Amino acid sequence: MKDAKIIQSVGFDKYFHTDSWEEANKSFFNQLAPKYDLLNEVISLGQQQRYKKDAIDVLNLTRKMRVLDVCTGSGDMAIYMYERCEELHIDAVDVARGMLSLAEDKVNRLGLKNIYFYEVSALELPFRENTFDAVMMGFGLRNLKDIRLGLKEMFRVLKPGGTFTTLDLGKPQGKWQRTLYHVYYETLMPWLGRIFFHRNEYNSFAYLSVSNKHFPSSEEIMVMMREAGFIGIYERQYMLGGVAQQVGKKGLKQKKGDV
Ligand SMILES: C[S@@+](CC[C@H](N)C(=O)[O-])C[C@H]1O[C@@H](n2cnc3c(N)ncnc32)[C@H](O)[C@@H]1O
Repeated sequence: MKDAKIIQSVGFDKYFHTDSWEEANKSFFNQLAPKYDLLNEVISLGQQQRYKKDAIDVLNLTRKMRVLDVCTGSGDMAIYMYERCEELHIDAVDVARGMLSLAEDKVNRLGLKNIYFYEVSALELPFRENTFDAVMMGFGLRNLKDIRLGLKEMFRVLKPGGTFTTLDLGKPQGKWQRTLYHVYYETLMPWLGRIFFHRNEYNSFAYLSVSNKHFPSSEEIMVMMREAGFIGIYERQYMLGGVAQQVGKKGLKQKKGDV
C-alpha cells in the first residue's frame, strides 16, 4: 500500500503533515513519548511488564552475549534483558529521538551499564552481519514500512545459531476471545483514549486497533520469517491470544550466498 493511504487509514493525516509513513510514524511516537509508559500500563491492564519479561525467556540469555533490542522505544525490553543478565552487551535502536531520550533517562536513573542506544532505522541497521547472539523486537513490527525488509535486516545481523523473537498484538482465534478483543480495542480503548489525549493530539489508543487491520496475523508473520531465512519457527501467546510472540533461529549452516 502507498504511504499516503496508510497514513490516511490510521488517521495520521490530520495530525502529521507529511507524505512519508516513516516520518508520520516517527512524529507520532515523538508526540506520544511523554505519556508512553503510563499509557502502555493502561492499555495492557497492567500486564505488559509480565508478558514482556516472559517473552525474553526464549532468548536463553547468558553472560557475555551481545544482544539487540530493535524499536526499543522507552527501553523496557533492553532493561528487562539487563535485569536477566547484567553481563550482556545490549544495543538498542529506535528512530524517534523522544522515545530514545526516555530510554536513556531511565537507564541513567537506574545506573545500568552496557546498554547503548542508537537513533537509526530497523530497516537499515548499522551493524555487520552475524553480530548478535539474540535479537528482540517488542511491538515494533507493525510500525515498519516494510516488514519483510525489517525481518531480513534482523536476520542479517543475527549470528548463526542465534535466536530472534518479536512480540506484538495477536489476533485471537476463539469466537468469544475475538469478540472480547474487538470490544476492548475498537470500542473501549478509543473511548478511554479521550481522557488522555487533547484535541490536537492523535489518540494513540485507536492506533493499535486501526493498524491491526493491516498488520499480519501470527501465521503470516511466521511465513515471512521463514522467507527471511529463519528456521525452527514457533509462536507463544499471552492474554488469550491478544498478544502473540514469534520465535525463530538462524541456522548454523548458511546456504552459499546467504549472509
Ligand atoms: C510501540 S513502540 C515499542 C517500544 C518498546 N519496544 C516496547 O515494547 O514498549 C514502537 C517503537 O518503534 C519505533 N520505530 C518505528 N519505526 C521504526 C523504524 N523503522 N526503526 C526503528 N524504530 C522504529 C518507534 O519510534 C517506537 O518507539
